[in-house]
Amino acid sequence: MNDSFIVLGGGIVGLSCALELRLRGGDVTLLESGVCGGQASGAAAGMLAPYSENPESPDEFFHLCRESLGLYPEWQRRVREMSDKDFEYTECGSLYAAYHEADLLALEGRLDWQRQHGSSGKILRGAELFKAEPGLSSSVVAALWTPEESHVYAPDFVEALKTACLKAGVVIRERLGAVEPVEWEQGIEVWSAEYGIEVRLTESGSDMQSADHSGEVPSVKSGHGVFRADRLVVCTGAWAGGLSDLLGLRLPVQPIRGQICAYEWREERTPVKHMVFCSQGYLVQKTNGTLVCGASEDVAGFDTSVTERGISRLLRWNKRLLPALEQAEPFHRWAGLRPATLDGRPLIGRLERAERVIFAVGHYRNGILLSPVTAKLVADCAEGRSPQPWQQAFRPERFGMPAASLR
Ligand code: FAD
Ligand code: GLY
Repeated sequence: MNDSFIVLGGGIVGLSCALELRLRGGDVTLLESGVCGGQASGAAAGMLAPYSENPESPDEFFHLCRESLGLYPEWQRRVREMSDKDFEYTECGSLYAAYHEADLLALEGRLDWQRQHGSSGKILRGAELFKAEPGLSSSVVAALWTPEESHVYAPDFVEALKTACLKAGVVIRERLGAVEPVEWEQGIEVWSAEYGIEVRLTESGSDMQSADHSGEVPSVKSGHGVFRADRLVVCTGAWAGGLSDLLGLRLPVQPIRGQICAYEWREERTPVKHMVFCSQGYLVQKTNGTLVCGASEDVAGFDTSVTERGISRLLRWNKRLLPALEQAEPFHRWAGLRPATLDGRPLIGRLERAERVIFAVGHYRNGILLSPVTAKLVADCAEGRSPQPWQQAFRPERFGMPAASLR
């Protein structure tokens, strides 16, 4: 692949796409408004949990999640090797706890279809359950055990991905402030001639006067100049909706705040061996001695503050799940903005109305999990491979036009 790419956004999705495109021969520049991993990706609990996060049915979204889980062992090994940086990747399995006999039916139904789709899970009860997870409250009557699920320590993994990108030759520009595609003409892949002659920032950072490209290629404008490439890959997470007017596309992506906290746990015996889910949230023990407890789902615009109300709700249920937390206080509280879409599915693929533009946004609760498969699909699409029929479920144009364009 000889094309050049601008990847907009340096979260886990942008970094993963940048790395995969570079590995397939692309000339890649990643532009980030703030710092790589500074938003949702650095805030995540890092769970790779397609079964626990998809209780309903084996739909296209579940299949996407599961395919990505399958790519993780090799993907994380590659990132580790290329970056020469260590990060936690733990294949510990998960437990989904039920407090009432009545909830067991739902767990059994879930286990039934999940066993047909790669899970070797089972329902644990009584002595078997408390042997597997001794710290659980005795009010837990049963739990669905899914051995296939794992987790990474997201901040370290993102850092390693960034290093792997740099070592592979991706140009990364951070702290660019507002970065926007320049005026879009009639929704075609042509940029305004107004920016036809501009300064191009080269890899070394020195300026190079470029010829008049008459807007044949996508370009992105920031206070630091105009960047051009053959293709634009949009990985701007919860901020993707901002491109709606420019592209004449309905992009119903909105931020859903997740408040989350961590306990310091340096005792020899860790409080949980598995990731533990219940209907209210989850607990994940990290090897750095922290026990992560998440997370709220709030509509709060782009506000990333932590509220007393949000965290105290987490504390109430996690003490109920794990009595050892009764006297404990979290030492760290933070929040991130999940990129949610109207139908809960990400937007992945090339725009039909502007085929130089590829979308990879809207991963909501599963962007860490979905990053390898997203990178693969984006790179396949950049290489001109036709999407498989099941990928229609993730078509970026599926929501149609903005209401204003229909008038
Ligand atoms: P982000 O990480 O938000 O990155 C987008 C980047 O784009 C940002 O850095 C932003 O600054 C940049 N940007 C925006 N606009 C522009 C622009 N115009 N130009 C340049 N740059 C721009 N997922 C899991 O799989 N497992 C989990 O356990 C998990 N736990 C979570 C817990 C919490 C509390 C939260 C909040 C999320 C969790 N998630 C989890 C979800 C996951 O974090 C997200 O789905 C994922 O990080 C999205 O990645 P992203 O790269 O699309 O977005
Ligand atoms: N996937 C966990 C969360 O989004 O909180």
